[in-house]
Amino acid sequence: MSRNQSLFERAQRHIPGGVNSPVRAFRSVGGAPRFFAKGEGAHFIDADGKRYLDYVGSWGPLILGHAHPEVITAVQAAAADGLSFGAPIEAEIELAELLCRLVPSLDMVRLVSSGTEATMSAIRLARGHTGRDLLVKFEGCYHGHSDSLLVKAGSGLLTFGDLAQGSPSSGGVPADIAKHTLVLPYNDAAALAEAFARQGDRIAALIVEPVAGNMNLIAPKPEFLATARELTAKHGAVLIFDEVMTGFRVGLQSAQGLFGITPDLSTFGKVIGGGMPLAAFGGRRDIMEKIAPLGPVYQAGTLSGNPVAVAAGLATLKLVQAPGFYKHLTARARQLCDGLSAAAQKQGVAFCAQNIGGMFGLYFTATLPHNFTEVTRADTAAFGRFFHALLETGHYFAPSAFEAGFVSAAHTEADIASTIAAAEAYFQSAGH
Ligand SMILES: Cc1ncc(COP(=O)(O)O)c(C=O)c1O
Repeated sequence: MSRNQSLFERAQRHIPGGVNSPVRAFRSVGGAPRFFAKGEGAHFIDADGKRYLDYVGSWGPLILGHAHPEVITAVQAAAADGLSFGAPIEAEIELAELLCRLVPSLDMVRLVSSGTEATMSAIRLARGHTGRDLLVKFEGCYHGHSDSLLVKAGSGLLTFGDLAQGSPSSGGVPADIAKHTLVLPYNDAAALAEAFARQGDRIAALIVEPVAGNMNLIAPKPEFLATARELTAKHGAVLIFDEVMTGFRVGLQSAQGLFGITPDLSTFGKVIGGGMPLAAFGGRRDIMEKIAPLGPVYQAGTLSGNPVAVAAGLATLKLVQAPGFYKHLTARARQLCDGLSAAAQKQGVAFCAQNIGGMFGLYFTATLPHNFTEVTRADTAAFGRFFHALLETGHYFAPSAFEAGFVSAAHTEADIASTIAAAEAYFQSAGH
């Protein structure tokens, strides 16, 4: 038995499903998850000593690759001075200042420890600010696992959950809470207009992934985000861009900079913590001043603004500001998508791919999907076979057809070329 297999068996005795986050379990593709021992740049090495080129990057944070020396040095230096104070530190001011300088919609930010906390807090704040309850979200978007947001959600919920119309996609979410969440189709400006025409005066907030990355990757149609901005402004609702995944992943000003839309509140996570547990929510000063201790909306955290996490975030955000960083990252992701698409086409496989900045989507369909309904028509069995064939040759993609993938600055042109060659060999041998 491989060491991965025996670790998985051992893990299942005391950890539900053997994992601490469901999609890690390989349930939708089958087989035993790999347990990892070490990461180096674009690669990581599992418990059996096998090396993989990593296209998951810890689900987004590792934009510089694994164990970047400058990030590790910053973390070690911070750790040596103490792991947590539960009191303010100078570095959190630096991180808040940096985020506000890089993303113009941010007047103020508050640091938290996970994307879930960031979105949950932003929604509470929007409700406190408007005095309204209703939340608009989109089918297949995932915003973390707080109750209000587990309605028609993406990511693991899309892989495992019950997606009956109007019902919570997780057990344990009271219908009384889910009823305050209105779910609309992604990229449908007409449905948005209708919802606001009917209930605009009840809507506290609209939360959206400006590029959806939890139902594979779905690019926003320009009129979709513009309509969301226009209608929320008109009806006095708070527009929340959930940039936990897209933040500093699609560009230095995040998705809002790329698409030229200014949300009222934004959430960040993943890249801003450089691999440590750190996230943030922020935005308009008049809204942010409603948070305790300035205002009536309560939000707090024992480890918020943790010094070691802040050090990792600052080191990461320093490096992504290097000239040409996003141009290079985008070129690598584009090389991967174009190469895989060409290889599939040559072998007659119904497949397409696209990237936005350093995130990408792979689809076993003939055309790019624009929403949840279209993405769920993809051939998930074909994805599973592709996933295992590439895993075997040392290429680690997300173990689900409904997740975006990521490249890092450590991925080289040669890394991508070898991935394309491995995929082409597979497509050929699979006899498509
Ligand atoms: C867009 C988005 N929002 C929120 C979250 C939740 O973040 P976390 O897993 O850090 O709680 C995720 C996680 O994947 C995400 O992709």
